[in-house]
Amino acid sequence: MRIDIIAIHTNIFKGPLSESIIKRAIHKGKVEIHLHNLRDYTHDNYKTVDDYAYGGGAGMVMLCEPIAECIDKLKSERKYDEIIYMTPDGETLKQKTCNQLSLLENIIILCGHYKGVDQRIRDIYITKEISIGDYVLTGGELAAAVLCDSIIRLIPGVLGDESSALSDSFQDNLLAPPVYTRPAEFRGKKVPDILLSGNPKLIDEWRYEQSLEITKKRRPDLLK
Ligand code: ADE
Repeated sequence: MRIDIIAIHTNIFKGPLSESIIKRAIHKGKVEIHLHNLRDYTHDNYKTVDDYAYGGGAGMVMLCEPIAECIDKLKSERKYDEIIYMTPDGETLKQKTCNQLSLLENIIILCGHYKGVDQRIRDIYITKEISIGDYVLTGGELAAAVLCDSIIRLIPGVLGDESSALSDSFQDNLLAPPVYTRPAEFRGKKVPDILLSGNPKLIDEWRYEQSLEITKKRRPDLLK
């Protein structure tokens, strides 16, 4: 999979994308991430990427031209399956969308800033608009890093234990059951006997029941 990220603050990605599983996925060649700084697509001495909003009001709007130039260049080089815009007014990111996106070949992720991008960029280029939650970040970069992480770990061959992603919370609209490791007793609290029983069928049933109970209590909306 190839991910092209268009942003003003590309350095933000250096941390999240250079650690742990994502770093390994890149080394293994499972994913290529290409960062594009919007200021490299400007043609004035100030490398201007924003301007005042028509109609007035506080906050700047990201200019059409640098974004269009960058996306046009990328589109002339290969075909993209999705051009995603990170924005708090997009559809809220869910596991199902992560699963679908992880199967794609090439995607572009555009990060907004200030009051966001000129509406015409959204109308002309964007095929999907994603929010990572009902709160506003200073820019789309951290949201894009979250999206990348959630997608990349699902690419076949990225996680060591292939079944591990399938048992995550949300994969079957259930929250994950509690997990335990050694010691079998910690500060007087024991690991549930069934997990020590060695009976895989009973353990699976127990985990499913726990998942159901926790989901009923914390996220009944997932069971509808
Ligand atoms: N940009 C700013 N806030 C955001 C959010 N919650 N999700 C996606 N992009 C954003």
